[in-house]
Amino acid sequence: MVRKKVYVTRKVPEPGLSMLSAECDVTMNKKPEPPSRKEMLRNVAGRDGILCMLSDRIDSRMMDAAGPSLKVISSYSTGFEHIEVKEATVRGIYVTYTSDTLAEATADMTFALILACARNIVNGDRLVREGRWKVGWAPDLMLGYNVHDATLGIIGLGRIGSAVARRAKGFGMKILYYSRNRNPKLEQELGVTYAGLDELLIRSDYVSIHASMNSASYHMIDREKLDKMKKTAFLINTSRGQVTNEADLARTLKSEQIAGAGLDVFEKEPLPKTSPLAKMKNVVLLPHIGSATHQTRSKMSEVAAKNLLDVLDGKQPDPAFLVNPQVRSVRPLH
Ligand code: DGY
Repeated sequence: MVRKKVYVTRKVPEPGLSMLSAECDVTMNKKPEPPSRKEMLRNVAGRDGILCMLSDRIDSRMMDAAGPSLKVISSYSTGFEHIEVKEATVRGIYVTYTSDTLAEATADMTFALILACARNIVNGDRLVREGRWKVGWAPDLMLGYNVHDATLGIIGLGRIGSAVARRAKGFGMKILYYSRNRNPKLEQELGVTYAGLDELLIRSDYVSIHASMNSASYHMIDREKLDKMKKTAFLINTSRGQVTNEADLARTLKSEQIAGAGLDVFEKEPLPKTSPLAKMKNVVLLPHIGSATHQTRSKMSEVAAKNLLDVLDGKQPDPAFLVNPQVRSVRPLH
């Protein structure tokens, strides 16, 4: 039997690569950085499947370059805004993703950012390391803010937002949420209260963004929205940088109109060294590692490889991981 050809755009943790290599001829970008556009256009040619990351733009030009053999684009991510899904569908290309496999790990990281911002974890570490801790214990050294009893505002109550809410319950927080669709069943289950976006921003001590990236959420948090937040509040973002207007956020932080921010995602990644955010002490910055645990990244790898292999083996991928179910009528599988 002719082995299928697969292109993998980055070295992902096991077991995905072994799973793919057992059945297919795998070409992989071995560099730590994403392949250049030119490199990718060259490498996708004649492939049956592509395993890509959120940093790879897969548009009609890329699909043209792959040619008619391409049956599946499997993204090692929970977001899929980097893929032209409609275009893939009309061409009969299955688009899959790793959906909610990273929800719990990302919720853990969200909480790490809430705590780091509230309690000066990063600034405290620097003070000690750099030998600037001169006074020993002091009654007013690095005063932060309570997390317990505070109000958390969650924007987007999907799997990650809900996982954050469950953690917040354990901390005795009051929880508000805003979402395009209200969900009374989840409200009951999680003990959360619906609020309009403005009301949530006005009342929350911590605002945590868990909205997926689309035209409605682009720059949803801009100057006007930031102005509604309390002076003592923190903004946490582990979703997508583009949901906040980063220039507006930097201005708001610089003028100390809010207490601080914890950011794992940025409009441009990696964050340029020249970004004003990089110089601010009231911001905790992370390099988009919300889902980066050994266990979660391995699970994502297994799911992404299985999604790809299912399609190439002529089997329906798990519907939970299929982005474009309409493709089934364009290219039926059994
Ligand atoms: C995703 O998969 O969309 C995450 O942001 C990466 O961890």
